[in-house]
Amino acid sequence: MARRKPLPADLPVQVERLDDEGLGIGRVQTGEVVREVRLRNALPGEAVQARILKRRRGTWFGNAQPAEAAMHVDRRATACAVFPRCGGCALQHMPAHLQLERKTAALADLLAEHGVRAARWRAPITGPQFGYRRKARLGVRVVGDQVFLGFREAFASRVVDMTSCPALDVRLSALIAPLRAVVAALSVRRAVPQIEVAAGDEAVALVLRHLEPLTQEDVVRLAALARQHGVAVYTQAGGYDTVTPLPGHPAHLLSYALPEFGLNVQFSPVEFTQVNAAINRSLVRHGTAPLRSCGLVADLFCGIGNFSLALARTGVEVCGLEASASAILRAEANARRNGMAGRARFEVSDLYGDGAVDLRLPQNTDGLLLDPPRSGAGPHLGRWLTPQIGVVSYVSCNPRTFAQDARLLQDAGFALTEVGVFDMFPQTAHVETLGVFHRR
Ligand SMILES: C[S@@+](CC[C@H](N)C(=O)[O-])C[C@H]1O[C@@H](n2cnc3c(N)ncnc32)[C@H](O)[C@@H]1O
Repeated sequence: MARRKPLPADLPVQVERLDDEGLGIGRVQTGEVVREVRLRNALPGEAVQARILKRRRGTWFGNAQPAEAAMHVDRRATACAVFPRCGGCALQHMPAHLQLERKTAALADLLAEHGVRAARWRAPITGPQFGYRRKARLGVRVVGDQVFLGFREAFASRVVDMTSCPALDVRLSALIAPLRAVVAALSVRRAVPQIEVAAGDEAVALVLRHLEPLTQEDVVRLAALARQHGVAVYTQAGGYDTVTPLPGHPAHLLSYALPEFGLNVQFSPVEFTQVNAAINRSLVRHGTAPLRSCGLVADLFCGIGNFSLALARTGVEVCGLEASASAILRAEANARRNGMAGRARFEVSDLYGDGAVDLRLPQNTDGLLLDPPRSGAGPHLGRWLTPQIGVVSYVSCNPRTFAQDARLLQDAGFALTEVGVFDMFPQTAHVETLGVFHRR
């Protein structure tokens, strides 16, 4: 069998442009072959020294070190010592306005590629640049006596050696060092692949995944961490249905407020919630606004009721659908505790499955709110657009699938009346979009 050639040593690269992920693209000549190189921490026009870390389909990927003399005028000092090695952030070297310009341009290019024209572009909606991230899955790596806890490296599965993170909510960032010390003392430290951390408005929780049973001493150590740092500690021996509070500790739900709507939404640390609380408030305001004159809205991919409850509060009747049975139970509980049970009802439904081809939405449904996963609204979107539906508010975390679905909506007789980017994930290449469609 032919052996793969080793990756090259560091090499100089001239950066030409950026790709959708914020990687700087350049080219290098290797023998007869001109090879494409994609680099983190690189801006157009810069001469950089590239450390190649990965090869995929003929392209080399790695990290760049720019030459002082040829730095882009907009390059800014990064906020953290582990950038660009850490995979948590991709754009720390770019100022916020440039990150948003790039994300907006990427979205505009994709819409143009699909022949979709927006009547109006809303200016990007911005929030805190750091300390915004309320959820994370942290990896654990044990090397000899040392335990590393944090995000994984960008082009490797190794866990970065970090003791804090400026992108994380300060309460979560402050947990990294003490948590690392506690994990190092656990008997099962080599059998802890990850720890999920989550913050609500008032409280913080963590879920420790373990592949071997915890000893009594392990439980005592975790209980001490819970007490000293005021954090709810859960353990997880298998799937999410095995998430359990420590013995003798009550299950304690997290919550966030949507003050504009007088709502308080509860969630468990492993349920989906938008990671950026400030931007979520704006997204809920702008995402529900076009639907407020509807009689009945179907909130598809509704999760724990983030948009449904806000809409219901404005007097609209809402029917929320979602695949996760536990999220639907939580949405129902959230409706009851916020006095919305009469106006918002919820149902489990796999919206990508065959059963959703002819989704039986109530006949008077006149608006849709879509907030699907990265794969988009799925194969049945066209069938859901019954003639009485006049407006669709589409929240997307993937501009590629958003552009495809926007084309489908356009072909079904809808116009993209307004579109824009929300800065849900500053310092990363992720793009959050809200598009509003009206029937022509
Ligand atoms: C981006 S989240 C949005 C959740 C909610 N709208 C919110 O703002 O918190 C996408 C949701 O789609 C759900 N989902 C994933 N696959 C699904 C499927 N096949 N059918 C229905 N819902 C699905 C996930 O469980 C998740 O709650």
